[in-house]
Amino acid sequence: MRVLKVDPTNPEPEAIAAAAAVLVAGGLVAMPTETVYGLGANALDPEAVERIFAAKGRPSFNPLIAHCATLEDARRLASNWPAAAETLGERFWPGPLTLVVPKAAEVPDRLTAGLPTVAIRVPEHPVALALLSAVDFPVAAPSANPFTGLSPTSAGHVVKGLTGKVDLLLDAGASALGIESTVVDLSGPRPVLLRPGALPIAALEEALGEPIAHSDGYEGAVSRPAPGMIGRHYSPRARLRIVSPADLREVAGVEAKGGAALGALLRSSPPLDGVEHVVTMPPDAPGYASRLYASLHELDDAGCDVILVEEPPHGLPWAAVRDRLTRASRSD
Ligand code: TXA
Ligand code: MG
Repeated sequence: MRVLKVDPTNPEPEAIAAAAAVLVAGGLVAMPTETVYGLGANALDPEAVERIFAAKGRPSFNPLIAHCATLEDARRLASNWPAAAETLGERFWPGPLTLVVPKAAEVPDRLTAGLPTVAIRVPEHPVALALLSAVDFPVAAPSANPFTGLSPTSAGHVVKGLTGKVDLLLDAGASALGIESTVVDLSGPRPVLLRPGALPIAALEEALGEPIAHSDGYEGAVSRPAPGMIGRHYSPRARLRIVSPADLREVAGVEAKGGAALGALLRSSPPLDGVEHVVTMPPDAPGYASRLYASLHELDDAGCDVILVEEPPHGLPWAAVRDRLTRASRSD
């Protein structure tokens, strides 16, 4: 795969032109966003979209997000633009928010997995915005990792997961937010949170002037809910166990006796016998989120068989982190 280094704040026009040419030709470009790296293709070209599913090994019933350069471009993908979409788009775009609205006829079923709605986001990363502005179509982009694997927050993570499956990778260094966008469904009578993410729930509720319905541990819609589909996801190779602080020492002891190579993702730094690789995470939720995938990649690369995660706090600010860790720890 071709890799081009780009300046994260002032992307070189030649790199953007090269990436745009790949997209115009129906190819795949891995691009940085402020949340995670995305695997991009022309969202209006069903064959290009199909290549994304093939590269990720992603089931075809899991819909993709269309990325646009502006709010105005986003409106064109909708058959109906709800007032709440205008409010939230005005307030939070470009940024880590994805809105689900009724889809316009020109949006291919392949993108939405046959759903009558489309998910749209205007990302904030200067490289993503430059690329989106350089083409005259929206760009479909799921996270640039194999299906169910850890999301990528650096170009190295993309190389590790998708080598040989991407035409061009734009390397702009680490993604600042480090966790996916917040997904809100505005296609029904009330806004519904489909995935907690980098944009805090409290900010959404404040902008909407009403509480938003959400259920801890539910992600997105699939056109044909399949058993296990909403289970294991965002997972490292290692087995991940979420452990309450009080039980850490004991669990570490048991796992170490079993001969597992142990890693730990901690919020404090208690000495843990038998744990070889310890990452101490930032104490605040956004800081923790920004390091979450990178730390799990690191522990995976270190050869850990088991990763013990000190349970993060409850409460809304931690919803996205808890959601990802819970999914990563599932065995189904
Ligand atoms: O931050 C992000 O959102 C990253 C970057 C690359 O933009 N993208 C990302 O895409 O996380 P992906 O494909 O990994 O997650 C897309 C989420 C899924 O939970 C999917 O079910 C939901 O959006 N989704 C997409 N289209 C939908 C629709 N029409 N209705 C409901 N949920 C939808
Ligand atoms: Mg993903």
